[in-house]
Amino acid sequence: MEKKVAVVNGGAGGIGRAVVRRLGEAGYALFILDKNEQAGGETLEELRQQGYQADYHVVELTNAAEIKTLFAAIQREAGRIDLLVNLAGGTLHKHPVQEFPLAEWIEVLNVNLKATFLCCQAVCKLMRERKAGVIINTSSNFGITGGAGRTAYAASKAAVIAFTKSLALEMAPHGVRVNAIAPGLTATARVMGGYDKAEWQRRARQIPMGRAAHPSDIAEGVAFLASDDAGYTTGQTLHVNGGMIFN
Ligand SMILES: NC(=O)c1ccc[n+]([C@@H]2O[C@H](COP(=O)([O-])OP(=O)(O)OC[C@H]3O[C@@H](n4cnc5c(N)ncnc54)[C@H](O)[C@@H]3O)[C@@H](O)[C@H]2O)c1
Repeated sequence: MEKKVAVVNGGAGGIGRAVVRRLGEAGYALFILDKNEQAGGETLEELRQQGYQADYHVVELTNAAEIKTLFAAIQREAGRIDLLVNLAGGTLHKHPVQEFPLAEWIEVLNVNLKATFLCCQAVCKLMRERKAGVIINTSSNFGITGGAGRTAYAASKAAVIAFTKSLALEMAPHGVRVNAIAPGLTATARVMGGYDKAEWQRRARQIPMGRAAHPSDIAEGVAFLASDDAGYTTGQTLHVNGGMIFN
């Protein structure tokens, strides 16, 4: 492909859609990986209507064999992967630790951490050979502060930060940058669904900047980390949270 190629997992989600729109605007050809077929189809249609080059693949991101096959197919088709954005994730399950079912605890780690590892592993060889590439992983404010009931999520998002630093050190000599974005409270359907309207407004007002993030706020951070403006930035976590981790 002539165009730069971006693979965005979770690209049909609330933040994901804003990210693929923004990367389309920046001129990338897009491959969206997501298990939600309906949202994936709608996202693809929207991007194509806007004239962006885009493709969608349904995938279970915690399945190592599916990831391997899919990334090999993308590499064959596109010939290059310039940018990987690992976005899929979420709290999924919230319990006090003494009640946290092990299967749910592991499920949270699998989507937030294992899927990130698998997708990074799938692009690293190609990026090293091309001596170019950018990887952006997704952490969270909870990866810094922790959160009651969120032992699995907070641990996975803190692990994403340490994973990102380690991979950045491995890849720096090969011309590949690896960073993380850490959104704060962001207005996506999944997260807003956990609050009633009054609670959501109260929570948003507690943030130092007085509002929750729009998904587009996070997309701007991703676009910056992907760009040559961040050409000397690696191993870092960019906090886009209106100041909320200082609360
Ligand atoms: N929204 C927030 O307030 C917030 C705050 C901090 C961090 N984050 C992080 O940002 C990322 C995106 O959050 P969001 O609010 O847009 O979530 P979302 O649920 O709207 O989007 C996540 C997308 O990932 C896909 N996905 C999830 N698990 C998958 C799997 N196993 N295989 C394939 N696809 C899968 C879903 O289908 C969905 O389209 C997550 O990693 C989340 O932890 C979000």
